[in-house]
Amino acid sequence: MSENATDKTGRGALRLGILGAAGQLGRCLVRGIEEASDLELAFAATRDEIDLGDFERIGEWLDSQVGALPEVVINAAAYTKVDACESEKELAYRMNAMAPGEWARHLMERNIHFIHVSTDYVFPGDGSRPYREDDETEPKTVYGSSKRAGEIAVLGTDPNALVVRTSWVFGPGRNFVVAILDQAAKRRSGELEGPLRVVDDQSGTPTYAADLALALLELSRLGHASGDHARGLLHLRNAGETTWFGFARAILDDAGYGDLEIEPVATSAFKTAAARPAYSVLSCERAERLGITMRSWRESLVDYLASSDAPRELLSSNHANGVGSGDAPSLESQRSESAR
Ligand SMILES: NC(=O)c1ccc[n+]([C@@H]2O[C@H](COP(=O)([O-])OP(=O)(O)OC[C@H]3O[C@@H](n4cnc5c(N)ncnc54)[C@H](OP(=O)(O)O)[C@@H]3O)[C@@H](O)[C@H]2O)c1
Repeated sequence: MSENATDKTGRGALRLGILGAAGQLGRCLVRGIEEASDLELAFAATRDEIDLGDFERIGEWLDSQVGALPEVVINAAAYTKVDACESEKELAYRMNAMAPGEWARHLMERNIHFIHVSTDYVFPGDGSRPYREDDETEPKTVYGSSKRAGEIAVLGTDPNALVVRTSWVFGPGRNFVVAILDQAAKRRSGELEGPLRVVDDQSGTPTYAADLALALLELSRLGHASGDHARGLLHLRNAGETTWFGFARAILDDAGYGDLEIEPVATSAFKTAAARPAYSVLSCERAERLGITMRSWRESLVDYLASSDAPRELLSSNHANGVGSGDAPSLESQRSESAR
């Protein structure tokens, strides 16, 4: 839609800016905007254009953008290396807490609605029913604490901003699915031997970045059309729940490695710098009330594997009919840095 065009609500095209445009979610957001006839991309910021932790440059950078400023900015950037955060606390807080707060201030001053993305890791992870937005937070890791501090910084600065928590993201880039496929391909080629070992005592919900991006864009559209953007905390993820073992089994089955064996193991079998939550399913009741529902992670996985987001070179030649052979990843690699 051209810059001066008006949509059927009479409010004009919805312009969005994306921060973290080179990440899994960021790439899907940019693609979703470019493919939608009713949306316009105001900017897609990667680290090359602006380091989001360079606070002094934010205002000047925003004002130097060509064309009108966006109505909505979505922040998909974060320091997401969960284990590395334990030893890089200062960097984690600068990027995950201070930067979102600073961006919230500059965007609010320009009357731009801010959507900031956060994580299930803000919760203690010992629950037995899906976490709701107003449940007590109690992060157990530096990553989770820094992300929680970011939520507080954003909403404390701009109460009209929206913080969206999600979980177990996979999309274009390095993630759990890629780690599992890599391990499977290595077993198929004989480079590695033995069954994959994957933890079976951590429950959560895989979320396809492309689906999350569409949900965020739909939410933005609803706010644009009504003139009243959603604010506060919101949970968004694909439907359903599983364990890492269940997720790995589905990946192997769908990618043509159905004959590969996986051994379910306990969390204690692997040592990681940052603790992982045993239970991190997010309740999406508020999103549903707002009219946003997401399909099951199982369906999304099938679409992801058929898409150009998936590492085609790692899929089994049997991928099309789901029959194959292969094997399992170590706990370190299966977790990779993707369980955020
Ligand atoms: N991945 C998950 O499992 C998961 C789960 C729950 C919540 N989340 C949240 O969802 C959001 C999106 O996650 P994702 O998986 O799409 O992350 P991602 O793929 O790791 O992408 C994050 C992006 O942020 C950029 N970035 C980091 N520091 C930066 C800086 N100082 N300046 C500019 N850019 C910087 C990174 O650039 P470089 O590559 O150059 O560092 C990267 O492109 C994040 O807020 C994350 O906390 C993720």
